[in-house]
Amino acid sequence: MAEGHSPSFASYMHSIPLSVALVLASLSVARAGPPVAPPSNPLIPAKFEASIQLENLLGHSKKIWEFANLPGAKTTRSFGTIGYNATADYFAKLAEDHGYHVERQTVRYPATTIISNSLKINGVDVPLSEITTFQYSGSASLTAPLVLVPNLGCSAADYEGLNAAGKIVLVHRGVCTFVEKGEIAKAAQVAGIIMRNNVAGPPVASRLEPTAFETNPPTLSLSQAAAEPIVTRLTAGESITATLNINVSNEFRHSDNIIATSKTGDQNKVLVVGAHLDSVPAGAGVNDDGSGSATIAELAIQLSKFGGLKNAVRFAWWTTEEVGLVGSHYYVDHLSASEKSKIFANLNLDMTASPNYIIGLNLLPMVHVGQNSLTIKRRIGVYDADNSTGQNTGTPAPPGSTAIKKLFQLHYDKRGINHTNYAFTSGSDYRPFLDAGIPSGGVATGAGGIKTPFEVSLFGGTAGIQYDPCYHLLCDDLSNLATDAYLWNARANADVIAQLLTTDSAVILRDPVSFVRLKSGVRQFEYAANLGEECHSHHDEL
Ligand SMILES: *[C@@H]1O[C@H](CO)[C@@H](O)[C@H](O)[C@H]1NC(C)=O
Ligand SMILES: *[C@@H]1O[C@H](CO)[C@@H](O)[C@H](O)[C@H]1NC(C)=O
Ligand SMILES: *[C@@H]1O[C@H](CO)[C@@H](O)[C@H](O)[C@H]1NC(C)=O
Ligand SMILES: *[C@@H]1O[C@H](CO)[C@@H](O)[C@H](O)[C@H]1NC(C)=O
Repeated sequence: MAEGHSPSFASYMHSIPLSVALVLASLSVARAGPPVAPPSNPLIPAKFEASIQLENLLGHSKKIWEFANLPGAKTTRSFGTIGYNATADYFAKLAEDHGYHVERQTVRYPATTIISNSLKINGVDVPLSEITTFQYSGSASLTAPLVLVPNLGCSAADYEGLNAAGKIVLVHRGVCTFVEKGEIAKAAQVAGIIMRNNVAGPPVASRLEPTAFETNPPTLSLSQAAAEPIVTRLTAGESITATLNINVSNEFRHSDNIIATSKTGDQNKVLVVGAHLDSVPAGAGVNDDGSGSATIAELAIQLSKFGGLKNAVRFAWWTTEEVGLVGSHYYVDHLSASEKSKIFANLNLDMTASPNYIIGLNLLPMVHVGQNSLTIKRRIGVYDADNSTGQNTGTPAPPGSTAIKKLFQLHYDKRGINHTNYAFTSGSDYRPFLDAGIPSGGVATGAGGIKTPFEVSLFGGTAGIQYDPCYHLLCDDLSNLATDAYLWNARANADVIAQLLTTDSAVILRDPVSFVRLKSGVRQFEYAANLGEECHSHHDEL
C-alpha cells in the first residue's frame, strides 16, 4: 500500500443499508441467457473458494521472498529492480501457462537509491537507526541553523517570519502529505528538511514529489524519540545547527505492469482484479503487497480449471504503486473510452495478511455531519452523500461499489468472521478506477495505521501498534504473514469473483439503486453491528 494522500482522517465511515436481499435477488436472476453447452466444470462460488489452499498461497510467498534475495537484489522488489523483474516474470509465466492472454505494459518512472546518509546535531552524530532518507531527496553535505516549523508545515503561512531560506527545517508529521510538506518547504527556499515522526518506532520512510527530484531539498526523516529532545531545546530558544550528509542517486527505471485476461467470458464485460507487484526499497514486501500478488496468482491458477464464465476476468499486477499508484494510473489512463466502458468492476487486494490484522472492507468515503468527527461515537450517523453541508471530505465512489462491499460482507457474515469498514483513500490502486467511474471494492488487513481497542475486540491482536508492524520495513519478510487472514481473504475474493463472473453483474453493478440512495441527500442510517463503532479511514502514512 502506498502512503495515503488523502487528508481524510476526518472521514468516518459507516455502512449504507443497501438491502442485502436486493443484491441477492439481482444475482439470482442472472443465469438466463442463450443456451450453451454446459461446461465440464462450471464455475461455482463454493467450489472455487474451496480450491484456494493456504499451502499454495505460501508457495508463492516463498518465491516472492526468494526473488527479493536473488544475487544483487538487496532484499527489495522495488519497481525495476532485479527482485521486481523476477517476480513479474514469475506471475506472467504462471498466467500464460494457465491459459490467460498476457500483456506487459512498460512504465518509466524515477527511482531513488540511497548511497549514504548521516545527521549531526551540534556536531554530534544521531544514530543511523533514528534516521532514514526520503525517496526523491536531493544530495548535499551542509551545516546550517536548525529551525522548528510551527504547526504542521502544511501551509506557507507556517513559514512566515521564520527566515527559513538557507536553513534546515524540522517539520512535524501529520494532516497533509509529506509531498505537500516538501513542496511548501521548498517554496520557502530551505537548504534541507528533517521530517519528525509523530508516533513511536522507527523514522517513517516516505518520499517527496518524484517528478521534482532535481530540485528537491536534501530530506531525511527522524524518529520521534530522537526528535523530541531537539524540539524541546529549540522551543526553549537554544540555537542548534544540523549537519546533513545525504548522497542519493535518482534515476529513471523501467518496469512492467503484468496484465492477464481470461480467453473465455464476455470480453465486453471485464472484471479487473488487481494487486501491486512492487515493494518499497526498504524490504521484500512479502505482505505489502506480496500477499495480494500471491493471492491473485492463486486465484488465476484455480479459476483456469473452471468453465462457464459469463464475464471475462483480468488479473493485473501493477508496478510502481508505492510511489503514487503509477502503474495502475498508467493502465487506466491509456484505456480508450470504449475499453474503459467494458470494465464493469475492479477488485483490489492490497495487503491481505497483516500480522495484527483487521478485516477491512473498502467502501465509499463519507463523513458524519458535524465537526470533529474524531470524537463522535454515536450509533446513528448521518451520511452527507450529496455534500449539502460541504463537509464530505471524501471523493464519492461510483455506484456499484456498495454492492461489491455487500458481497464481501455477506461472505464474512455467513462464516462468522468479523469485519469492519475501510475507507477508500488515495492510498491504493482502486483510486484510478474509482476516478474513472468504475465500481471498486476489496478487503484489506491494514498497513501503518494503529489498531484500536475496539478492533481488538473484533479481531484479537494488539491495540496501540500498527496493523503491520513491519509496514515498509526490512522485516516485511516470510514471517510477516497472518495465515488465517491470508486464507480467509483469498477465499472471500474467490467467492466474490465467482459471483461476479457468473451473473449479470455488469448490470447489477450499474444498477441505479445504490446511486439513488446516495444521491437522495443527507439521510440517516443505522449503525450496523460488527461494522466498527468508530470506523475511521485506516489510512496510512501522511
Ligand atoms: C556519492 O556516491 C557515489 C557512488 O558511491 C560516489 O561516486 C560519490 O562520490 C558520492 N558523492 C559524495 C558527494 O559523497
Ligand atoms: C526490468 O524490466 C524492465 C522492463 O522490462 C527493463 O527495462 C529493465 O532493464 C529490467 N531491469 C533489470 C534490473 O533487469
Ligand atoms: C464538499 O464541499 C466542500 C466545500 O465546498 C469541498 O471542499 C469538498 O471537496 C466537497 N467534497 C466532495 C466529496 O465533493
Ligand atoms: C466478533 O466481534 C465480537 C465483538 O463485537 C466479539 O464478541 C466476537 O468474539 C468476535 N468474533 C470473533 C470470531 O472473533
